[in-house]
Amino acid sequence: MTQPLKSRFTLNDLRSARSLGRKIPMLTCYDYTTARLMHAAAVPSLLVGDSAANVILGHDTTLPISLDFLIELTAAVRRGAPLALLVGDMPFGSYQGDPGLGCENVFKMVKQTGCDCVKLEVTPDHAPLVKRLADAGVAVMAHLGLRPQSVNVLGGYRFQGRSVGEAQHIIQAAQRMTDAGASALLLEAVPNEVSAAVVARTNLPVIGCGAGPACDGHVVVLHDIAGLTPHQPRFAPPIGDLTSAWQKVLQKYVQDIDSGQYPLPQHGYEMPLDQAKILAGLQQ
Ligand code: KIV
Repeated sequence: MTQPLKSRFTLNDLRSARSLGRKIPMLTCYDYTTARLMHAAAVPSLLVGDSAANVILGHDTTLPISLDFLIELTAAVRRGAPLALLVGDMPFGSYQGDPGLGCENVFKMVKQTGCDCVKLEVTPDHAPLVKRLADAGVAVMAHLGLRPQSVNVLGGYRFQGRSVGEAQHIIQAAQRMTDAGASALLLEAVPNEVSAAVVARTNLPVIGCGAGPACDGHVVVLHDIAGLTPHQPRFAPPIGDLTSAWQKVLQKYVQDIDSGQYPLPQHGYEMPLDQAKILAGLQQ
């Protein structure tokens, strides 16, 4: 049986895992109750991803989710998992425009949630913003490869870095982010060769999401591996079936009410006997 985390898992732990060649698991998490389970299972690092737009809110893309909603979720996860390395995701529109406003929004995320790191989907043009944040003391995880917030420009959720030219763009962007002072990189949906090249060219910890075994850690959407989403990406096959477990509980509840097995008298509250007698008398 895994023991809960005993001390804080920090960016330094991520860095030393990289130098020791130890791979770090990261999972998405969006609520307090699940965060407590993550804590008990000693999951060292959690991402409150804007994928909450899909799995929590039911949108087709991550674009509609708001900063305030992600802040609420991130703070809830912090309360449930006080020792995990917590990554807060900056949603679409919160940092792509005016860099001053981008900084303000990042500071708001850090102050109001207690997250350890913020994740931004970046192009090389974001290097000045990443530098400004790093200079201000913010740990930035720079998200490269498939950037779902740019789905309309990318023309769909296709893996990135399929040609040498595309791969070189990603490798160069990773270099720019390293030079700008990012604390970690996240590579989503790129071929194994591309992640291996990025890992070889940076000393930052590299978290992969469908980016192959060379990465220093791996993140997936919890609902995918728990068997809660109808279509998993190929890199996140289900390793459990929480859909069946939930269905069992929900169906039993419906049946128990239907058959009168719930609620039974012992599930209710008892009135003091003297009060019950008076009430019964009043009814006659
Ligand atoms: O929002 C998210 O969950 C993510 C991961 C899939 C990397 O960005």
